[in-house]
Amino acid sequence: MAETTAPYGAAPPPSARKSVNLPRLADMRARGEKIAMLTAYDATFAAVANAAGVDCLLVGDSVGMVCQGLPSTVGVSLETMRHHTESVARGLQRVQGAAWLVADLPFGSYQQSREQALASATVLMQAGAQMVKLEGGGWTTETVRFLVERGIPVCAHLGLTPQTVHALGGYRVQGKGDAAAALLREQALALQDAGATLLVLEMVPAALAAALTRELAGCATIGIGAGRGTAGQVLVLHDMLGMHLAKAPRFVRNFMEGSGGIQAAIAAYVRAVKDGSFPDDALHAW
Ligand code: KIV
Repeated sequence: MAETTAPYGAAPPPSARKSVNLPRLADMRARGEKIAMLTAYDATFAAVANAAGVDCLLVGDSVGMVCQGLPSTVGVSLETMRHHTESVARGLQRVQGAAWLVADLPFGSYQQSREQALASATVLMQAGAQMVKLEGGGWTTETVRFLVERGIPVCAHLGLTPQTVHALGGYRVQGKGDAAAALLREQALALQDAGATLLVLEMVPAALAAALTRELAGCATIGIGAGRGTAGQVLVLHDMLGMHLAKAPRFVRNFMEGSGGIQAAIAAYVRAVKDGSFPDDALHAW
């Protein structure tokens, strides 16, 4: 099957596409086709989200909050992440045109040393992940370089980093004001230089996220609560299906409303990301 080159906003259905890989993600970023990422924690949802056209699945450590009922992601273990990564990978095993699979390194599994990060990343890669995600900037740069040099693709994560919620004083917007924005920019450029090929930007001002997206040519930004100017978007699956233990963040849209079912809701999310109608910038007044 020939590689598809659908124009922006007209992504092919997964049955017509090749499995998503790093060159394809780079190509999407270069052509301006938005990348639709969604979290998944089990095999069935992974297969359904894939059939709905999601480009990247993230086994997020949000699993701790949405599946385990934990108060934050701090309590999530590497074993939990391994278990859910393996489940999601099984859901993608026999599908055509599989999404790119990213798994979160949980709190405490990469902070000690680069060697600890490599050992933890190896567990997730052997469970079926194709890329690992880790939170923070500055000290993480050399860890990212160490992993990338050893053949492990890395997604970085800046802005609101939920694993450090206690240090940040809550789930607050980050990168506000000139000094904070300059620091975030410096960290993002260093992470790109270290080889990170995706960068999640969570709860940062839309103008800052858009400016970083323009500047980072070799790294695709994936926004969550960061406006529509990023190269892609990510949401927590349960949030966009309207399923919450607590109040949903205000940037979330419930795609189940008016949809014909879960696959249709996820397909609507993918369409809205691709055509730029999600997110709604009015909901990002920070
Ligand atoms: O764990 C997660 O779901 C995440 C996303 C919110 C980006 O990190």
